[in-house]
Amino acid sequence: MRDQASGLRDLASRKNYKQSKMRVIAVTSGKGGVGKTSFTVNLALALAEYGQRVIILDGDLGLANVDIAFGLTARYTIEHLLSGEKTMEDILLIGPRGIGIIPGGSGVQRLANLDRDKLKNVIANLGRLEKITDLLIIDTGAGLGHTVTNFLQAADDIIMVTTPEPTALTDAYGLLKSLRREAGEVPIHLVINRVRTETDALATFKRLETAVRKFLDGTLNFMGWVYDDPLVGRSVMQQNPLGISYPDSSAYRCIQWIAGKVSGIYLSPPRQAGGVRGFLSKLLQSF
Ligand SMILES: Nc1ncnc2c1ncn2[C@@H]1O[C@H](COP(=O)(O)OP(=O)(O)O)[C@@H](O)[C@H]1O
Ligand SMILES: [Mg+2]
Repeated sequence: MRDQASGLRDLASRKNYKQSKMRVIAVTSGKGGVGKTSFTVNLALALAEYGQRVIILDGDLGLANVDIAFGLTARYTIEHLLSGEKTMEDILLIGPRGIGIIPGGSGVQRLANLDRDKLKNVIANLGRLEKITDLLIIDTGAGLGHTVTNFLQAADDIIMVTTPEPTALTDAYGLLKSLRREAGEVPIHLVINRVRTETDALATFKRLETAVRKFLDGTLNFMGWVYDDPLVGRSVMQQNPLGISYPDSSAYRCIQWIAGKVSGIYLSPPRQAGGVRGFLSKLLQSF
């Protein structure tokens, strides 16, 4: 049987190994259940198709389910890394297309309360990931808890997912308002999930963007939309991600299109210089 560590060795020995800075994208939403995890998992799959090396950090304290979406089960989490019982090799799961998954569990919150020695350990572990990863995508919880805010502040980019439902939009606006104060410099890109038509998507974006411009004096980038598609639900039930089981579905095609744009974001220089180290030092400053 393959142990979790063999996955990291595979990742490290890949041909396209190159030394580069790892970029950090946080995927978030105002309201829960809008499709963050489905989006994150399939975005990672689409980015992997484009040759990007992706690791997902399952950062949702309430409902950590990235491993389940891939049909995997996490034995160990960041909790074990923080306690020193396990290394990154031990906790990292490897999904299809070589996607790495770091199960967060309750360890995500504990990141906030680390003493110096343990912190050094985490930084050393994450620093090793940097050599084998282009993108770290964090699937955060919904809303603006302490831990979520810290992740968002430290990310290079934020992708905010909403649906066109009025309650989701109200919560998205609420989150945008707080982010304006708490993470003002981080670019925010909006994805509208579960739309019926393109017109529906554009009208929804316009509404939110107008409010942001008028009342928050801010800007909002439009990343794209994903169609409401029964195959998304079916793939969740089958524990086999959409990008694997239904790659021709309308929802996955949208996500492939967005993945192209995400790659494009990174044509411009990173907002912060230090890759994962920069990310961690920003994260630490906020505690
Ligand atoms: N584009 C979509 N079309 C249809 N159903 C979707 C779509 N995106 C998400 N869903 C459904 O919404 C539910 C919640 O999605 P999930 O990714 O777990 O949300 P979150 O992580 O934001 O809580 C899932 O059961 C999934 O089937
Ligand atoms: Mg989720």
